[in-house]
Amino acid sequence: MMKKNVLITGASGFIGSYLVETALRKGYNTIAAIRKSSNKQYLKDPAIHFLEFDFTSDLTLDHAIREFVDRFGKIDYVIHNAGVTRANKNEEYDQVNCENTKRLVHALQRNSQVPDKFVLISSLAAYGPAKNASPVKATDPKEPLTAYGRSKLKAEEFLYTLKEFPFVIINPTAVYGPKDKDVFFLINSIQKGFEVYIGNKGQLLSFVHAADLAAAIFIAMESDVLGKNFLVSDRQVYTSAAFNQQIKTILQKKTLSIVMPVALVRTVAVFAEMVGTITGKVPILNRERLKEFEAPNWAVDSSEIDLLGYHPKFNLEAGLNDAIEWYKEQGWLS
Ligand SMILES: NC(=O)c1ccc[n+]([C@@H]2O[C@H](COP(=O)([O-])OP(=O)(O)OC[C@H]3O[C@@H](n4cnc5c(N)ncnc54)[C@H](OP(=O)(O)O)[C@@H]3O)[C@@H](O)[C@H]2O)c1
Repeated sequence: MMKKNVLITGASGFIGSYLVETALRKGYNTIAAIRKSSNKQYLKDPAIHFLEFDFTSDLTLDHAIREFVDRFGKIDYVIHNAGVTRANKNEEYDQVNCENTKRLVHALQRNSQVPDKFVLISSLAAYGPAKNASPVKATDPKEPLTAYGRSKLKAEEFLYTLKEFPFVIINPTAVYGPKDKDVFFLINSIQKGFEVYIGNKGQLLSFVHAADLAAAIFIAMESDVLGKNFLVSDRQVYTSAAFNQQIKTILQKKTLSIVMPVALVRTVAVFAEMVGTITGKVPILNRERLKEFEAPNWAVDSSEIDLLGYHPKFNLEAGLNDAIEWYKEQGWLS
């Protein structure tokens, strides 16, 4: 049997590297779409095929697709995972998360390479937080809080306008695991003895380990389902305090708990944004991010993907142990 081809965009990123590993393990001919500037440190397997993918124009996309067909044949599946989660300018979210998705889809259509399934990696941010005490459901109205969430929603809405284009959309909650830098920031501050809360309300949170997310994405891709959103988490709901407690238990750390007033954090965020504009580096905290910290409920109901046979392997305890062990091995955590 010929191996099926899967094209994975954003392959050089955190989640992309798990998608590549999963694709190889499942026996796909795995084509990692990367940029000239992409770091390949997590893409060392010699079985990976690399293809330079430049989303900036129709011409460069046509070129990449033609090169794909010449080298590998038909594009069976596309997992469109490339995206920006943090940006200094809101237009960048729209350009990368929405416009690049449109350009890629149009290029596939133009080059008669509509795949058997196109999987868009969107985000829980496209839905926004839960409107009440219940977890967010895939059928809930989508009311994003942030420019990031709105850009993901625009890409989703574009897909829903298409006729005869087979797609599914994955909306992961917060993703963590070895290689991740965002949750690492929290783990590292606890390691240094600080536990920071913004406001004093506490939050309901959900998480998914990147390996479980990658498994869920392939389940949705290989299923017969089309034109549907799948929220993905580890099926559990955690309070922010329980999340921090889990990290403290693993690290065997006592911390100084600091509750920062929202107004103060907003001032810090404005300052961080100004520094970001000058240095060109995107700060971990900005006013958009703050909106996410203020929302009380980010729990999700992942039952739609569960029905397709998704069984997460990692609860938070196992997943954080896995991540922290990796951070220690890599020297990220002392
Ligand atoms: N991490 C989470 O908690 C989370 C949660 C929900 C959804 N998501 C979504 O999951 C996807 C992957 O996120 P991640 O956390 O793995 O982020 P990441 O580590 O920052 O990886 C982003 C990937 O997208 C690529 N990319 C960014 N801008 C691009 C552009 N203009 N053209 C081509 N490629 C571009 C990057 O390529 P370079 O290496 O060349 O920069 C990188 O491979 C994103 O779509 C994100 O919105 C993430």
